[in-house]
Parts: sequence; structure tokens; C-alpha cells
Amino acid sequence: MEWALRRAREFEEQKDKFIDRKSRPAFHLSPRIGWMNDPNGFSYYNGRYHLFYQYHPYDAHWGPMHWGHAVSDDLLHWEYLPTALAPDQPYDRDGCYSGSALTLPDGRHLLMYTGVVNAPNEKNLPLMWQVQCLAAGDGVEYEKYEHNPVIDQTDLPPDASPYDFRDPKIWQQPDGTYRCVIGNRCLKDNTGQVLLYASDDAVNWRFVSVLDKNDSHLGRMWECPDFFTLGGKHVLLISPQEMRAINYSYDSGNNTAFLSGDYDEENGKLLREADQPADYGIDFYAPQTLLTEDGRRIMIAWMQEWETAKFHPRTSHLFGQMTLPRELSFKDGKVIQKPIREIEGLRRSTKTVKLENFTGSYRSPEIKGRFFDLEVSLKQKPAAAAGEISSYRRFDICFAENAQYHTLLRYEPYDKLLHMSRRYAGSRLKVIHDKACRTDCPDGELKLRLILDHSGAEVFIQDGEKVMSMMLPTPLEADGISFHLEGEAELQLKFHDLSPDD
Ligand code: FRU
Repeated sequence: MEWALRRAREFEEQKDKFIDRKSRPAFHLSPRIGWMNDPNGFSYYNGRYHLFYQYHPYDAHWGPMHWGHAVSDDLLHWEYLPTALAPDQPYDRDGCYSGSALTLPDGRHLLMYTGVVNAPNEKNLPLMWQVQCLAAGDGVEYEKYEHNPVIDQTDLPPDASPYDFRDPKIWQQPDGTYRCVIGNRCLKDNTGQVLLYASDDAVNWRFVSVLDKNDSHLGRMWECPDFFTLGGKHVLLISPQEMRAINYSYDSGNNTAFLSGDYDEENGKLLREADQPADYGIDFYAPQTLLTEDGRRIMIAWMQEWETAKFHPRTSHLFGQMTLPRELSFKDGKVIQKPIREIEGLRRSTKTVKLENFTGSYRSPEIKGRFFDLEVSLKQKPAAAAGEISSYRRFDICFAENAQYHTLLRYEPYDKLLHMSRRYAGSRLKVIHDKACRTDCPDGELKLRLILDHSGAEVFIQDGEKVMSMMLPTPLEADGISFHLEGEAELQLKFHDLSPDD
């Protein structure tokens, strides 16, 4: 075993004992120690789910990337395995960046990742080379392929950047051959694109096509691509960088998007019909999917965003976590997301409330906590006065609340906007704290499902048409939940307590 991998393993072995379990989410994966970003190698191998992650064990900040490793039976309870990859070869000495995994016909688990080497360019700017590499193993120990890299600069089409060329997502075709998609920047027009490669043996690769390319409004580099079928359509999932904000959908900077349409296999092109943000909150990036044995397409993402990820103290022991795994489906031209159904197995108790003529405020001693799954339905009453289109003007849910802190979900039916704000959640940073997303209630019913696990909140809107994800810096003592309505409506709540054992 190379020195860098042994050192990382020894270090995590020594340090993880000092991490208080209470500083972690209960059913979202967080790093064993140190820093976590993108999910990698999300796969089912030898009867268990494997999830690797971009990992810097030595510090709770980004640094030379390793692959951390965890396994699970239900995608909610995770067990850590030793670090899988460390940057220790001439072609990956500055980082083992994101990638994916599958099972080889001989039973080995294959990892495909981006090797990074920092190298100044002609003008002596600190650019890096990015190449695609393989490692194969038994689910714990992985050996890097002796002839790495398997895809490098010589395999690029004209105008493709060799510096922004990363995050291979590999899969096997029904005929047994392999494909992978890789994120790239087109140097000619400085826009994001995804490159498609093919192989007969997962080792020797050839460039096939530019699968899809930016049409000016979706950013300059596309990171972490994934490509799969869903409900008869093809979906290309991307994480674009350097975008301009677009009204109530994409923010400025990094985003994530589902590009959907048909696939022209002969020319290797996605015939894109629509694009849609994968999440409307703040903390969601670099998603990757997996197809389960029972045919569900499950997506998981890093529950963070790059701008806020720089400011936590050097002394912190942990940083970063994943989102909940989400089940994807396709309906009326849109990708729908639901929390993974296994979450129902975490319910300790359920409290149901129905307030037919709700107005003012509601709190209950049985509805509080920092680990819960809350289903909310708010139904219009016949509108009071002529010309009124809604029987209420504003609906608020406050959670992670006490006298000092709260996070707010606010629906305003006249604007059809759902706001989520962590402005009073305890942050001392001048970063984005508020988001709003357009939400229609065609049958006069607003349906929200809010899942909170320690400090990560995910809101599934109208049965998963949209999702908003956000991290909260609020101390755990702030565990109140309250409901407020200006006007009158029927409020129904189902509160499932998901508190961990101690
Ligand atoms: C996305 C990303 C990837 C890269 C990794 C490095 O968050 O920038 O493109 O592989 O993080 O840690």
C-alpha cells in the first residue's frame, strides 16, 4: 500500500473517536473526519450500497482529494470503510477527483475517477491537467490500474479543454459494452459541454461525441455529469459553473440541472427538450445517481454550495454532508423527486393534526425537534370576499426555532412564491440566506414535506415537483416548530419523529 493511503487510513482511525456523534446528522452521510464534497462511485456492489466521497481527512477544508468510503443496506444508516483512494501516483498526485463505479464481469468493483496534476501553462498560470483513471477492488481495497490514465488529452475532440475535463460517470450498456460521460469546457466559446466515450472492456476508450453543449444560458463548465433513462426520456444531469441568475430558477454561480429529451444514439446527441433546476434551495451540488436492483433511479448530492464552504473555522473537525437519497420519476415533462421510501423505517412516532378553520398561530408540545419528517397540507376555504382568489394571504412555518433563532418557510398565494429563509438561523456571514421558488396550487392545496436531520433541511414541494435544500447553522436547542396563517384555511399535519436513539 502506498504511503499516502496508509497515512490517511491511520489518521482517520486515530481521529474519528474524538468526533461527538451528536455533531453529525442522524441519517445523512457526513465525512468520517475532515472535509467532504461530491458523492462518488454511488453503486450497489456485493449486496450493499457503496458511496464514496471527495474527502480531505486532514482538515475540515478542501485539500488534496482522497476518496472516503461508506456502505449501507438502506441508504440511511452508513458504516465507514477505510479511505479508498489517495493521491499517490504521477498522474493523480494533486488529487483523485470525482468519478463513479460499477461491477465488472469478473466480480471486481471498478472505480473511474479524475486524476489531477497541477501544471503551470505557457503563461505560468497555475492550471491543472485532468485525466481519467481506473482502480479495481473488492469493496475495501482498490488497486490503481498500472497503465493509467485511460483517457487523456489525446482523446479530446477539438476545442475541448484539457484542464476542465473531469468527473467520469461510467455505465454498462445492455450489450455488455461500456460508456462514460465526462464534464468539459469548450474553449472556443467558453461554455460547458459533456463528452461521451465508449469502450468494449472499460479500459480502452474512444471518443464518441459531444453529447450536449451549452446554449449560452447554462454556464461555462459542466461538472459531474450523469446520463440515464427515466420514464421513457433521457436525462442528462449536470452541475454547471459560472451561470448568470435566471428568475426564480437558477442562481448566479454554480447550479445543478436536469436536461431532458430524446437520445439520438446514432449521432450520440441528446435532443434536449427542457432544462430544470435539480434543486431550488441553496445547498445542493454535484448530484450522482444509481439504479437500484428494484429499478429505482436514486439521486444523492453534496448538501452544500461552494461559496459558503470556505468560511468555517480551521479548528472544526467535520464539514459537509450528503442530501437524502431521492427517488426520481418523470411526469408531464418534469423530473419529480421523492425522499427515499426507506425513510419510513426511521419513524418513532406520528402525530396527526387537522384544523378545519385554521387562522392565527398553532404550536403543539408534540410537534418539535431537530429530526423529523413533517407532511403539511394547506387547503383553501371558499374565498371570503368577491374578487379574492385566496382565503389566506400568507402561510408561515417556523422551525429550528427558539426566542433567538428560526428558519422560515413562507407561502404567498397571490405571488405563488414559496420562500425559504435562514436569515435568522444564526449565521454571521453575508452570504445567500433566502431563496424563493414559484409554486402553483392548481387545486387550491399546498403540499409540503419538510425533512430536518440535525442541521440539514429539505423541502419537497407539491409531491416532489420541486425541492429546496438548505443547511442551518442553528444550535440544536432551537427545536420549536410553529405555524402561522393570515386568513383562513384547512391545515393538516403529519409529524413523524425521526430522533436517533440517544
Ligand atoms: C465539483 C468538483 C468536481 C471535482 C471535485 C473536486 O464539486 O469541482 O468537478 O471533481 O469537485 O473536489
